Amino acid sequence: MKKFAFLALLLPVKLSWGSTVRPAVRHATPATSVTCTVASSTVPTTKPTVTFPPTGSIPKDFSPQGLEELWNLVGPVEPPPFTTTREPSLPIPVPSPPPPLYPTWYAPEPSSIFLNLSLPEGFIFGVATSAYQVEGATKMEGKGPTTWDWVSRLPGFIQDNTTADITDLHYYLYKEDAARVAAIGVTAHSFSISWARIYPFGVAGSPLNQQGLDHYSDVIDYHLSVGVEPVVTLYHWDTPLALAAYYGGFTSPQIVDDFIHYAKTVFQAYNGRVKTWYTFNEPSVSCGFLSQYPFNVSLALGVNSSTAPYQCAYNLLRAHAGAVKAFREMGINGEIAYKNNDFVGLPWRANDTDDTEAVERHASFGLGMYANPVYVNGDWPQIVKNTLPESYLPRFTEQEMDDLKGSADFFAIDSYASQYVAAPPAGTASCQANMSDPAWPACNTVVLYDSNAGWAVGPSPDPASIAWLQATPQMLRGYLQQLMDRWPSPKMYISEFGMDEPFESMRTELFQILEDTTTTNYFMTNLGEALLAIHEDGIPLMGTFSWGTRPSFHSVFALR
Ligand SMILES: *[C@@H]1O[C@H](CO)[C@@H](O)[C@H](O)[C@H]1NC(C)=O
Ligand SMILES: *[C@@H]1O[C@H](CO)[C@@H](O)[C@H](O)[C@H]1NC(C)=O
Ligand SMILES: *[C@@H]1O[C@H](CO)[C@@H](O)[C@H](O)[C@H]1NC(C)=O
Ligand SMILES: *[C@@H]1O[C@H](CO)[C@@H](O)[C@H](O)[C@H]1NC(C)=O
Ligand SMILES: *[C@@H]1O[C@H](CO)[C@@H](O)[C@H](O)[C@H]1NC(C)=O
Ligand SMILES: *[C@@H]1O[C@H](CO)[C@@H](O)[C@H](O)[C@H]1NC(C)=O
Repeated sequence: MKKFAFLALLLPVKLSWGSTVRPAVRHATPATSVTCTVASSTVPTTKPTVTFPPTGSIPKDFSPQGLEELWNLVGPVEPPPFTTTREPSLPIPVPSPPPPLYPTWYAPEPSSIFLNLSLPEGFIFGVATSAYQVEGATKMEGKGPTTWDWVSRLPGFIQDNTTADITDLHYYLYKEDAARVAAIGVTAHSFSISWARIYPFGVAGSPLNQQGLDHYSDVIDYHLSVGVEPVVTLYHWDTPLALAAYYGGFTSPQIVDDFIHYAKTVFQAYNGRVKTWYTFNEPSVSCGFLSQYPFNVSLALGVNSSTAPYQCAYNLLRAHAGAVKAFREMGINGEIAYKNNDFVGLPWRANDTDDTEAVERHASFGLGMYANPVYVNGDWPQIVKNTLPESYLPRFTEQEMDDLKGSADFFAIDSYASQYVAAPPAGTASCQANMSDPAWPACNTVVLYDSNAGWAVGPSPDPASIAWLQATPQMLRGYLQQLMDRWPSPKMYISEFGMDEPFESMRTELFQILEDTTTTNYFMTNLGEALLAIHEDGIPLMGTFSWGTRPSFHSVFALR
């Protein structure tokens, strides 16, 4: 695997949640929508009991012994096979392009169809990863444990019992990875910083881990030196475990100041070298996890599994607004937003009023929960406020609304797929009024096939793959337009998109691994539609970041 560096960026992690799941692309919104067709539910079938110290019972001991006690909650960690940063020899040889195994019209490059359409000046052509999924070096150089270090080794959580202790070892191979993506024409790498590498105990006032801060400084410098722009996400789901233990992580308002403190440290350290920043990755997904095993064993006092996602949303949004306020007050040079996920959707039965209402509910409980406060009016969507009592979802103060409104310089969307939305079985009105309805409070259902003949909205990689991952390029232009209509912004990035190859995890021979027609077709068609969205629809799209899935020659050079 390591022979092909950019392959090494992308190892999927298998979770035992009913199917093989790549966490990075697992952006279905468990808290806000139900998939009616297949078990893409994130609830594990077996629920072994897990013990975690009661919230607040672990003393705040910031000594090395205190850190070791936090690591004891995680258990043994596999050490990396080597601990020095590998130096690539430059230039990286670029392998020959694949032979024309398929007719040229199998997955044509947009540049050969839309002859007169070119990308705007300054368009970013990037790849995206996350710290937990690629770094490895889990317990090295002063890092504290994270919630993912903990959950990944709970019995029954990961299908094949692997952890990300080593994974792609990007922590020591980042130079090779950066040089290799640079060699194939990638102009940016969107990666995340692990909070627990900077502050092992997470909280403001706890010791700063200089080694962690220096590490990412080197990562940033190296990317710049090979012409790959570093794009930084402050939080991609890996909450310092200490914060879960001390106060229940994002379900506690205490996290707000601790996050802002961490953000300021990082802004200060890398100011001028990083131009594009994200506070949070896919907040509706990370908050959604908190209602479910095993994340729901460490909630703040007074918060339960039903209220956790909404308490999290409230705290996370205030943390976002506070970090952006600090970013602006500090005069940090660059742009900042967070990464949205999910789609608005189309009514499953065209013109059906119940399905049309379901689309509104899907948009409000999914994207809108975060995007309305930031891009519209500083407040929750009205549908959400009408449904959720204050005991579930705290209401913003005037000050908080002021801070939230306009707290993003651009709109970023992880745009994997866009599908249909239908009313739940009991109907939207009945569901809304019934907290016991399994679809409450979002009261909508995502449907993966059309209502006329039952055709899939797009191909899935294979029958065993996660249900929500379908290739839906024909939806992309309408999807982006819906985003801009509802949450206007002067600039947009597709911050993640991607596809799996059929039976990818079963492929062992290199020639099989290299064969990626499904992914190529996904990228070609989506990029072609993105080009039309820019030129025909006036969408201010200024960059795309492919998620891990093997940025092949085809996809990377598609638009050149
Ligand atoms: C592209 O532009 C050229 C020059 O303006 C024009 O002659 C040609 O017809 C255009 N081609 C297409 C496919 O639109
Ligand atoms: C994972 O570990 C469990 C025991 O914790 C075992 O039952 C299961 O067979 C293991 N799975 C694999 C793929 O090794
Ligand atoms: C945690 O979530 C699981 C579903 O994943 C649920 O069965 C369990 O009851 C929840 N625990 C609590 C304490 O609510
Ligand atoms: C939905 O309504 C629009 C406008 O009234 C109409 O043009 C369209 O044919 C309708 N679609 C269906 C499937 O009934
Ligand atoms: C969870 O908390 C909410 C708000 O306090 C409350 O209404 C609800 O009954 C609680 N749920 C459970 C299962 O205790
Ligand atoms: C509420 O939903 C539950 C679960 O689907 C159902 O058993 C119950 O009959 C519903 N109540 C009403 C008033 O519709």
